[in-house]
Amino acid sequence: MSHKRVAILLSGGGSNMVALVDSMTGDHPARPCLVLSNDAQAGGLAKAAERGIPTASVDHRPFKGDRAAFEAELLKPLIDAEPDIVCLAGFMRVLTADFVSRFQGRMLNIHPSLLPKYKGLHTHARAIEAGDAEHGCTVHEVTAALDDGPILGQARVPVLTSDTPDTLAARVLTQEHKLYPSVLQRFAAGNKAPVLLP
Ligand code: GRF
Repeated sequence: MSHKRVAILLSGGGSNMVALVDSMTGDHPARPCLVLSNDAQAGGLAKAAERGIPTASVDHRPFKGDRAAFEAELLKPLIDAEPDIVCLAGFMRVLTADFVSRFQGRMLNIHPSLLPKYKGLHTHARAIEAGDAEHGCTVHEVTAALDDGPILGQARVPVLTSDTPDTLAARVLTQEHKLYPSVLQRFAAGNKAPVLLP
């Protein structure tokens, strides 16, 4: 069986990338083919290199404002890697509809909220501010609309009265590292039934 090729895009430490890469072993139908960042200093690039995965980076800053020009550069190593699936994992740049259209139906993202609640940033602070009893993370198919698209999985965590955004984020991140690999394995096998944890 030939494996599905998975490219992972990240902007930071890449803890989700590590969880995904470390899950793609044995009879898992996919294998990582590229880890790509918009920041040459992203900690995730070193972690990917340690795991023998090809890496690339395209700094978005020289293109300030010209999103299309940045994406034209970003596409070069990505298309060269010939991915079957693209996973956004802590990738903090908004992608244009044109970029998304090239991978529509085979590009996933993990967002730290129970979508459709709290699209965008500062999700943990917003959940605390709202007095929510529950919070969590969502893996969804990427569409042109930000943090939208068909939901492929969700994991829920309690919000504690003692929580700060950081303590809540840490609790959610632990679930992200379980949810994303579970969704990817199912998605790579052609199964889009949502993964719901716990
Ligand atoms: C995580 O909170 C994830 O939900 C968001 O980016 C954050 C950092 O992810 N998308 P990572 O540690 O770089 O994978």
